[in-house]
Amino acid sequence: MSYYSHNCGELRKSNVGTAVKLAGWVNSIRHHGKVSFVNLRDRYGITQVVIKEDSLLEIIKPIGHEWVLNITGIVVARPEGMVNPNLPTGEIDVEATGIEIISVSKVPPFVITEEEKAREELRLKYRYLDLRRSPMSEAIIFKSQMYHTIREYLHKRRFVDIETPILGRSTPEGARDFLVPSRMQPGKFYSLVQSPQIYKQLLIIAGFDRYYQLARCLRDEDQRNDRQPEFTQLDIEQSFVEEEDIFALTEGLMKSIFENLLNIELQIPFKRMEYKTAIETYGTDKPDIRYGMTLIDVTDIAKKSEFEKFKDREKVKIIACEKELSRREIEGLENIVKGYGTERCDLKLFWLKYIDGSFSGPISKFFNPDRMAELKERIGINQNLTILFTAASEPLVSVALGAVRNAIIERIPNPPANAGSRKKRDKFQIPSERGLQLPESKPKGLPYTTPLEFVWVTDFNMFERDQTNQLVPAHHMFVMPKEVGQLDMDPENALGKQYDLVLNGVELGSGSIRVHKREIQEKIMQIIGLDKERREKNFGCLLEALEYGAPPHGGIALGLDRLVKVLLDRKSIQDVIAFPKTLTGVGLLEGIPSEVEKAQLDELCIKL
Ligand code: AMO
Repeated sequence: MSYYSHNCGELRKSNVGTAVKLAGWVNSIRHHGKVSFVNLRDRYGITQVVIKEDSLLEIIKPIGHEWVLNITGIVVARPEGMVNPNLPTGEIDVEATGIEIISVSKVPPFVITEEEKAREELRLKYRYLDLRRSPMSEAIIFKSQMYHTIREYLHKRRFVDIETPILGRSTPEGARDFLVPSRMQPGKFYSLVQSPQIYKQLLIIAGFDRYYQLARCLRDEDQRNDRQPEFTQLDIEQSFVEEEDIFALTEGLMKSIFENLLNIELQIPFKRMEYKTAIETYGTDKPDIRYGMTLIDVTDIAKKSEFEKFKDREKVKIIACEKELSRREIEGLENIVKGYGTERCDLKLFWLKYIDGSFSGPISKFFNPDRMAELKERIGINQNLTILFTAASEPLVSVALGAVRNAIIERIPNPPANAGSRKKRDKFQIPSERGLQLPESKPKGLPYTTPLEFVWVTDFNMFERDQTNQLVPAHHMFVMPKEVGQLDMDPENALGKQYDLVLNGVELGSGSIRVHKREIQEKIMQIIGLDKERREKNFGCLLEALEYGAPPHGGIALGLDRLVKVLLDRKSIQDVIAFPKTLTGVGLLEGIPSEVEKAQLDELCIKL
């Protein structure tokens, strides 16, 4: 006999009179003398069970939170005035005719509620309990639905899902590799792949014209709230394409995800912005274009002012903040700017206030009325403002002010509601296939008061300088230059066929058209200082493959954990991953990383 006839979120008034069987966890218990109420919970919701029979009241005497019960009973309508409008099952009760205790539970270390009440460490240690909370399971189920939509979209377009090795060779994506020692080849190591970049290019050379994979990527880097050492990319590669093809494919995919999962009609194509413009206007390559407050160049005006500190600087730029910032807030922003200073160039933040038609603040005395008038016109002032100045050369001046802009944005509770590239249809609805249903404990509606602003950032520089002044890839070394000739003439200013997809200031994905000729690939490797031996040793297989008829190709990888985090407006990427690591890379549940037995180390020829 089956454990259940219905799930705990399913029963409605139309089921009144039906004999049912439910299985689930005790969410709460209330004893009222001759009658007790048990709220039974599963992934789909909560149903209130009423227990009146003496023999059953006896059975439930010992039960506590999180015990697992099997209930048989009859669906009854709740009496007038007892209906719970906040519960989808709130119009009915199940009157128990039989109860079986299937599993007992220790007193849980925290109460399983929608609110996040317990300490972070406790929630991570008892992750399986935390995942019983509906906001947590919602995110995991949402991700599963998203994977389903992605697969459907790509299969319709003839993409082939191909797995690639996790134990691979070092794939340079800018982080450190996790290394795995080989037992059978003592002294040698595999690298856990940072992405399938090289493998996907090899698959294209193998003739799979359309590849994708929901790829696990592993990177040893400092963690942040949008980074995990293990994460999932939607990795895509296609042959005989140009940038436009990848843009259209990705935009169509996003449109499907938004339509299927959120019932939101996304406006495509997305906006585009060249990297240089993004840096100069927003001070970052991940511009949050939901907000104004763009960086304004006032070099000409500032240099004509009496303020000496502006005279010898290449650029003076400002942000006009539509808020009267307090001294404390400004001090915080001053520290941010200071942090961007270098040995050769110290950075400071200066400020002015424009309140009810007049300027004030420490540097106002250096601006005569003509300069003030020019400033007003440049900004287009029509309200009270705090004007923040920084002076340095590009891109430093912009990057520092960009950080100030981001700090101000973080404190603004809601972006302007009229912005955004979406049209909300009607209320958020969940697709209703059974098994892919979100728990129904509360009416769904994602945090969509905030607009969604996608933007493609394009035309990135191929290279940047590291601390040793060596040119290194700005992204990775497989990007096709816009003009190959520039690699010889002026590599520092060469642009690549590279693009990032940014949503509300978060980098969702990154991709490029790739080099498909060995001589260009080797030239790039030379520019970044890889000598012949290292080129052969580390990338010999790709370089050789490029000599066997490699088609032009390109692709993209989208960070899916990040996408879910942004869409569900979660604090951290940890909240959308079933078993995440802490910011210091620790798995509190499993107790990892951990020591290993000496015998294991000996087998691997490792001495600590
Ligand atoms: P990239 O390194 O930019 O490109 O990664 C692509 C996207 O993956 C996500 N991402 C992460 N998500 C969570 N935790 C991390 N530690 C993390 N690192 C990256 C981001 C990012 O935009 N092979 C290239 C792609 C290509 O060229 O096709 C690559 O991996 O959302």
